[in-house]
Formats: sequence, C-alpha cells, structure tokens
Amino acid sequence: MAAAAVTLAPSMGNAGDHNSARLVSASPAEEEQGFELKLRPRWLREFIGQAKAKEQLAIALEAAKSRGEALDHVLLFGPPGLGKTTLATIIANELDVGFQQTSGPALQIQGDLTAILTNLHEKQVLFLDEIHRMQPVLEEKLYTALEDYKLDIIIGQGPAARTHVMELRPFTFVGATTRPGLLSSPLRSRFGILLRLEFYTEEDLRFIVRRSAEVMQVPIDEDGAAEIALRSRGTPRIANRLLRRVRDFAQVRGTGTIDRPTANAALTMLEVDAHGFDEIDRRLLLTIMQKYDGGPVGLGTLAATLAEEEDALEEVYEPFLIQIGFLDRTPRGRVATRLAYEHFGLTMPGRQTPLF
Ligand SMILES: Nc1ncnc2c1ncn2[C@@H]1O[C@H](COP(=O)(O)OP(=O)(O)O)[C@@H](O)[C@H]1O
Ligand SMILES: [Mg+2]
Repeated sequence: MAAAAVTLAPSMGNAGDHNSARLVSASPAEEEQGFELKLRPRWLREFIGQAKAKEQLAIALEAAKSRGEALDHVLLFGPPGLGKTTLATIIANELDVGFQQTSGPALQIQGDLTAILTNLHEKQVLFLDEIHRMQPVLEEKLYTALEDYKLDIIIGQGPAARTHVMELRPFTFVGATTRPGLLSSPLRSRFGILLRLEFYTEEDLRFIVRRSAEVMQVPIDEDGAAEIALRSRGTPRIANRLLRRVRDFAQVRGTGTIDRPTANAALTMLEVDAHGFDEIDRRLLLTIMQKYDGGPVGLGTLAATLAEEEDALEEVYEPFLIQIGFLDRTPRGRVATRLAYEHFGLTMPGRQTPLF
C-alpha cells in the first residue's frame, strides 16, 4: 500500500518541503495523506487531549449504543489539523458502523446527494467535510433528510412532475468545518452534538509526538519531543510533519535518535522559529506593527497589504496568533499586542486612550 512506502522510505521530500511556509501550514499536503492515515488514532482512547469534546462524545456514543439507535448528528468545528476528520472516523469505529466521506465542494448536483443518502446503511456514518462550502440548494435538501430521515424527490418534468417522499434509513451525519459562523442557522440546528476542537497544549502535543514516533519506529527522547511540541502551533498535523522532517535530519546528520540538540538544529535549519511561526505569521504581525502603528487595521486592508486571501488569514493564521496572545480582534480591526512587540524586539508606541 502507498502509505507504507511513504513512511519506510528515508524520504527527504521535495525541495518545496524545506520551505518554512509549507512546513507549518495546517492543511494537509497531498503527499502527506498516506502518512497521516497511518498516524491517525482509530479509537477514542487513543485520541489525545480535547478532554471536553471527548467526554461529551463518549457519553453520547455510550447512550446511542445502549439504546441501539443511530447516534445524533455531530458537528465538528475548529481550525485545520486539530483532528476533525480523525474524530469522524473514530465515531464510525466506536459505533462499529460503516463510514462514508464526501465534502461540500465535491457535492455538485442533487443527484449525487440523493444517491449517497439513499445508499446509506442503517446507523452508518456519513461524513461531510468543509460543510460550509456546500451549495445552498443541497443544504436545503439535507435539512429534511437530517430532521426526519425523509427526502423529497421530484419525478417527471413540467406539469406532470410529482413530488415523492422517500424514506431513508436512520443514519448519523457528521459535518466538519473551520468556519461554523458561515453555517445557516437551520443547518446548525439539525446537529444534536456540537464539538469544538481547541488548540492542543504543549503537554498533549508531546504525547502526540511520542506516539507518532513509536508508530514510525523513530527513537526520540522527552526533550526532543518537547522541542517539536513547542514549535507546532498547537496543531497535531504540524507536530507530525515536523517530526517527519526532524527524523530525516537525525538519520542523515545525527545519531538517528531525536534529542533536543538534533531537534533544535533541524528546526533551525528548516526556519521554524520558537513559536512555529512561518513567513506569513511574521509578515502579518510586522505589517500591523510597522505599517499601521500596531493597529487597529481592518481585515480587508491587512489582506490587501499582505497579498493574502482574507479567508486564509481568518481561518488559518489568526486563530493561533489570538490564542497565544499576539493578536487581538477588536470591533475596529486587528491589533498587535505587547507580547508581539516583545517577540520581535520592537517598542510599542504609546497608545492614547480615546476621550470618547
Ligand atoms: N487528538 C489527537 N491525537 C493524536 N493525533 C492526532 C489527534 N488529532 C489529530 N491528530 C493527527 O493529526 C492529523 C490531522 O488530523 P485531522 O483529523 O486530519 O485534522 P482536521 O480534519 O481537523 O484538519 C491526523 O493524521 C492525526 O494523526
Ligand atoms: Mg480534515
């Protein structure tokens, strides 16, 4: 299988992999998917961290199983790389039911959705990734299917057209999104279980790195794992990716074991800094501080100045910068905090308190 080949080869990746912007991006690169599959926890007990979401889910799973019913529909939301897809597959495993996956952008026509829904087995999991990017017409079709397992289909054309109500087997719908705010409220209200994923603590990330190293059979010590955890932006996907690159470095330049000096040297070479910032994080903060006096500056202006998409800034970059206290979102725009100034060794301009 392709996944095995990817992990066994002492791959140095493409030249592009050594670019720090790619290294800390939270979206999966295509060649990474086989590797991720191998490291993905399969059971809830293997899923590290996220205590709140895990407890909520464990109770719901237990209750559904003991009643012998389909689990309520689940909405998973949070920044990329935190384990939404992983949890969706865990739900199916724990329920011991089938798993089918599609995504908002992949679903183009009503026929596709109808075919998927009518082919579902009883109690099975249907996972829809990037649910906020589903077409509005399809979203409406989905409402009734989720509400009472019925689907309206139109047979025939013109005056002879008739609506036929089709009964579906009870199933569990799992939606994932990085942008819960973009879901319409009727859609949101169809979910009985809402699970918000948060950035991981350093301790959780250390566990994840050590678990992944074990799966990959790479020797690593506590300090080496800590060094990688520190620079992973609270994100397991990034932690696993850095681990893979540091492993390469340890094999080629070191003793094969990942300790702190090896991890440090590798990550410095890869230009991943102490917070795991990449070039865009740095430019974003420096632009606010140097061009806009620390802010507030509107998202649109910031995106234009950086020549980046507003969506990417809001979904991928800002959440982590806000989480670690480097950036504030205020009603009047984005503001760089004292911590950001300190990190870059810049002096914070004295801000005047507004009189009104
Ligand atoms: N809680 C966790 N414990 C261990 N590994 C995790 C955890 N969450 C995510 N991962 C790892 O991170 C990778 C990315 O997770 P994924 O579920 O694809 O994120 P998302 O769908 O939110 O973008 C997975 O391959 C998995 O190995
Ligand atoms: Mg995913």
